[in-house]
Amino acid sequence: MLALENIDVFYGAAQVLHGVSFSVAPGEVVALAGRNGAGKTTTLKTMAGFLTPASGRLILNGGSVSGVTPEYMNREGIAYVPEDRQIFPTLTVDENLSIATIVRRSGPNLWTKAQVLELFPRLAERRTAYGQALSGGEQQMLAIGRALLTGPKILLLDEPTEGLAPIIVNAIIDAFREIAANGVGMVFVEQNFRVPELLSDRYVILDSGSVVWSGDRAEFANSRDTVTRLLTDLGRTQA
Ligand SMILES: Nc1ncnc2c1ncn2[C@@H]1O[C@H](COP(=O)(O)OP(=O)(O)OP(=O)(O)O)[C@@H](O)[C@H]1O
Ligand SMILES: [Mg+2]
Repeated sequence: MLALENIDVFYGAAQVLHGVSFSVAPGEVVALAGRNGAGKTTTLKTMAGFLTPASGRLILNGGSVSGVTPEYMNREGIAYVPEDRQIFPTLTVDENLSIATIVRRSGPNLWTKAQVLELFPRLAERRTAYGQALSGGEQQMLAIGRALLTGPKILLLDEPTEGLAPIIVNAIIDAFREIAANGVGMVFVEQNFRVPELLSDRYVILDSGSVVWSGDRAEFANSRDTVTRLLTDLGRTQA
């Protein structure tokens, strides 16, 4: 279980997160939504150990991990897939996947390369293609596959479906369901609820660095209008 407790984060003198609290458990899918600049990426980077909270606590399995390194978080099973995916352009799909196994955690039931290729058959077809030759969707699948090979307990994904064709988005949604069914917790960032409402267990909406709404599937269903209006209003505020 990974939790943020009343987290404040600053860039220099500018406070960007204000008292953010929420958590993700094994096998749980949490959607983190909000308009441009709401603090979604900052929140994910904090959870991955790239940013240190000025106050509040980052809790992993009951213990405080505020201020640890990203390498530490990765070894503890927190995998971060950044928005720009960071595929190695001059390595093949196969080599990109092999590299992930270097930083692989030890433990039972870790994902294998064969399982990743089964999860994303498109990657199996593209095994010998170079990173730079991949489409955006293939790169995203590769980035997720690479993260899985490190043996994550929690996967943090920044706008994984942004700009992708609907058929690819569907493949990624199916993969997320399977990953969660295998016990991996997920926090994924989106700007709207089109994808999250198909698979999320819990929803967190950020605005100006604060959580302005959160709820589970039932609460989301009951508050659909409020949530939709809230996100739409947030969009309008920005314009
Ligand atoms: N390195 C930085 N230095 C200073 N300010 C930053 C930095 N990165 C982000 N910010 C500011 O922090 C706020 C939150 O940014 P963040 O990237 O977390 O938002 P976001 O919700 O991910 O936005 P987007 O939807 O555009 O990806 C914004 O006001 C942004 O301008
Ligand atoms: Mg962002």
